[in-house]
Amino acid sequence: MEFLKYSTSNSQIVNAIIVPTFEDFTPADTTKTVAGSKVLESARKSGFLGKRGETFDTFDAKLEKRVLLVGLGQKKEFDDEKLRRSYSSAFNSLRSIPRGVVQVILPGLSSNEPKEATFAIDLAAYDFDKYRNDKSKTKVEKVLITTKLGEELINEGRIIAEAVNFTRDIANLPPSIGTPSLFEKTARKIKGATVRAFDREDFIKMGMGGLEGVSRAAREAAKLLILEYGPKSKKPVLIVGKGITFDSGGISIKPAEGMDQMKFDKCGASAVIGIMKLISDLKLDRHVIGMAPLTENLPGGNAYKPGDILTHYNGVTSEVLSTDAEGRLVLADALSYGTKNFKPSVVIDMATLTGACVVALGNNYAGMMGNDDKLKKKIRSASEKTWENVWELPLDEDFQDQIKSKVADIKNTGGREGGAETAGAFLSKFVGDTPWVHLDIAGTAWTQKNNSHKAYLPAGATGFGVRLLYEFLKEE
Ligand code: BES
Ligand code: MN
Ligand code: ZN
Repeated sequence: MEFLKYSTSNSQIVNAIIVPTFEDFTPADTTKTVAGSKVLESARKSGFLGKRGETFDTFDAKLEKRVLLVGLGQKKEFDDEKLRRSYSSAFNSLRSIPRGVVQVILPGLSSNEPKEATFAIDLAAYDFDKYRNDKSKTKVEKVLITTKLGEELINEGRIIAEAVNFTRDIANLPPSIGTPSLFEKTARKIKGATVRAFDREDFIKMGMGGLEGVSRAAREAAKLLILEYGPKSKKPVLIVGKGITFDSGGISIKPAEGMDQMKFDKCGASAVIGIMKLISDLKLDRHVIGMAPLTENLPGGNAYKPGDILTHYNGVTSEVLSTDAEGRLVLADALSYGTKNFKPSVVIDMATLTGACVVALGNNYAGMMGNDDKLKKKIRSASEKTWENVWELPLDEDFQDQIKSKVADIKNTGGREGGAETAGAFLSKFVGDTPWVHLDIAGTAWTQKNNSHKAYLPAGATGFGVRLLYEFLKEE
């Protein structure tokens, strides 16, 4: 969809107004926007208490507009995430207003509000309608945000949401369209970033056995994309995202049911592209390298097989026990190439890596593993700000036993027990001493149905990671 337009000017006809109120019917500043009408009175009469999640939706004849009272609950419990949830769900209930302008009143408790409300509304308005004849459900043309805090904050929220929605747009693409070549084309449009792309010939020449093996039976040309942004004076931050454009499992083929979901196995790479766009749009003064190993994982007469042994970029050999544990194999080459050649200060990878992580943590927490407490702490604090939650999983040397192989250095599966951790243990062999965090986003990268608590997460790709790493980079 087209992005919503934003305005702070009061001189226009407003069709609907979102009015927040706490349980004590404050802040007075906000409720006075409906003063003179009977809205508050009738809301009270109908039993509206201002509890969080409660709404009162009415057309007020006197004000000549639709008024949506939105309960915010108790003031002392209010925070940025509650604001995001309240405003995105309020916006969703006004999606179908027949004409254009929705005015948004903010509670006025913190200076984050214009940014976060804009962000949440733009994310809620997202609709992947590219391939649908019946286009976007949103009839709202313009959002009018009433704030004294200035337009820059609204702009920042808008640009962040745009990058998240851009990430969703790529990640939601059907698997025969969202190919490695499309990623390259998209990356090359990001202004301010330089882009390099390695192909299969390069994989063979450079000894990237994981990328070579997984991409052997791919019909779409595989690529390793490298995006670079920012001043080269400082050591870069390296961000790597898994980009399996379709994961059939290969020879260790997956069951048919739900296999369509494996178009989302490119969400890590999509987030990397989105982050690079965001930092270039906001002109962040930071040296960042984004890498995306991209290929489809398909079976075929020439496919790599269970039992094969691959040699990765850093010389470590891995025995393939399942061709469906392909993510770690391609990440191995990207991580070892990136850490060796760019000498980053830190490396963070994002990957829809294991079903085990989804079983352990569900859909609201990404699994976080790594080798550096300081870095983990920074990621956690960024996650607390953005509510892109992470939960730490253990990754000590005891997990290494499970991935020992008799015929190679390591094997690519460690059995059912601790599946997310053994995948992390595998990756740890490819980052050397570089401070590293691995985010298993298998549970958070997409949702199968609209999230009723988080109206800013419509079904489909969520864009998880973009905002989290942006907050991290801003502080770094
Ligand atoms: N892309 C999948 C992981 C996945 C599965 C993400 C379901 C989200 C939902 C990954 O490539 C995979 O197949 N992992 C296997 C590893 C196993 C064979 C060791 C898994 O988790 O089953
Ligand atoms: Mn797989
Ligand atoms: Zn996969």
